[in-house]
Amino acid sequence: MSLLVAPSLLSADFGNLSSDIRFVNESNADWFHIDVMDGVFVPNISFGFPVLKAVQKEAKKPLDVHLMIKDADLYLEEFAKHGTYMCSVHFEACTHLHRTIQKIKSLGMKASVVLNPSTPVSVLEDILHELDMVLIMSVNPGFGGQKFIPHTYVKVRQLKQMISTRCLQTLIQVDGGVDPSNARQLEEAGANVVVAGNAVFGAADRSLAISQIKG
Ligand code: DX5
Ligand code: ZN
Repeated sequence: MSLLVAPSLLSADFGNLSSDIRFVNESNADWFHIDVMDGVFVPNISFGFPVLKAVQKEAKKPLDVHLMIKDADLYLEEFAKHGTYMCSVHFEACTHLHRTIQKIKSLGMKASVVLNPSTPVSVLEDILHELDMVLIMSVNPGFGGQKFIPHTYVKVRQLKQMISTRCLQTLIQVDGGVDPSNARQLEEAGANVVVAGNAVFGAADRSLAISQIKG
């Protein structure tokens, strides 16, 4: 199976969000990647529920929500109500990660944990079997359009090994600086889903960019 692609709406044109959502609906992309930032966990603020509501209304593909916020637990019900399919929380932001994961699943969403570039995959040893996906950050979270960190390949390979050893079906997602030049190598390392912001919305031919990333 080819890579799943989740275009990140952070790089969309917010003045014409509707038209960018329709583009993704009609493209061969797979999910909508939604980056929620609170200005506390990461040094940037993106958008919240009013925007998510507008996305939910028009989007015809699953909403893959990446929470870069402190105290995610306080808002999980609201994210479930706003149509979240996959809910990703940061390892670095959750003190009681096991509880947070159980809550995400009890609300009917799929559960995923995100690791920053400096967090080793080994921290997932006692939670991996509870997860639907692991998101490996290939840039430091907070901004679109950053440069891909090559050490990501090593982490994806290590995680793939952990998943295989345990006979799990956990998906591996990679987010940050993904484009056609590194997508094949990520797929070979074991990635199943990639996020692409700038590489899709900044491309002259956005459909071609998605196809090239999918492979
Ligand atoms: C960064 C976000 C990413 C970002 C990806 O904190 O999590 O999803 O939008 O954008 P690109 O693909 O441009 O690096
Ligand atoms: Zn993201």
